[in-house]
Amino acid sequence: MHKTIEPSILYFGTPVALISSLNEDGAANLAPMSSAWWLGWSCMLGLGSMGQTSENLIRTRQCVINLPSQHEVSRVDRLALTTGRNPVPEKKQSWGYRYEADKFGIAGFTPVPSVEVLPPRVAECPVQMEGIVHDCRPFGKNVSANCFEVHIVKLHMDESLLVGDGPRPHIDPEKWRPLIMSFCRFFGRGEEVHPSRLAESDFMKFVRNGTGSPPTANPPIGSAETRT
Ligand SMILES: Cc1cc2nc3c(=O)[nH]c(=O)nc-3n(C[C@H](O)[C@H](O)[C@H](O)COP(=O)(O)O)c2cc1C
Repeated sequence: MHKTIEPSILYFGTPVALISSLNEDGAANLAPMSSAWWLGWSCMLGLGSMGQTSENLIRTRQCVINLPSQHEVSRVDRLALTTGRNPVPEKKQSWGYRYEADKFGIAGFTPVPSVEVLPPRVAECPVQMEGIVHDCRPFGKNVSANCFEVHIVKLHMDESLLVGDGPRPHIDPEKWRPLIMSFCRFFGRGEEVHPSRLAESDFMKFVRNGTGSPPTANPPIGSAETRT
């Protein structure tokens, strides 16, 4: 039996990301968020328009999308209810937000220089994606937010999460433990629940090794074929 309901958010569960960006004075800002998904080497980010990160991405068009694992959860939680925007917008003040100039510092994260963009990476995050904002537009029906299409220009991966030592190593999903936010609460990842026919298909062999049947008419969306 199903029931139709109207909850205020549809936050079913997505990975937590920490977005580093540069403020107008050149200082680094770091914002936890979780409205993020990927297609090929592009990422879509949903960010509230009152936040400093939204403003920074519109102005500089650069960011790093850092993915913490579930082990970094207490550091991530220290960033909750903080903003790099000064003064804090009234609405956010009423929700309990405070201004923080040094988000890396309060969370105990270490900034390290990026290769292709100016905002720093977060050393403690196993995944660090340097990105260029390709497009941005207002998003949403009942939120004041922007969506950003970010093209990944450099990917840094913790070596312990990789399989294969050839020229194109891959990320081992058995080792990668993303931190997930679902309805504003933190979760880790469970065990694999079923073999995947897609993962075992010729298409994925092609994606991984460049061998097997080449993909034809309709490759799965988000595959390597969509990379430019
Ligand atoms: C785990 C977590 C996930 C969040 N997800 C989002 C999100 O997807 N989009 C968003 O706009 N804000 C999200 N927030 C709230 C932002 O962190 C908040 O808007 C903050 O002000 C952003 O920092 P900034 O103002 O310095 O950019 C999240 C907060 C936490 C702690």
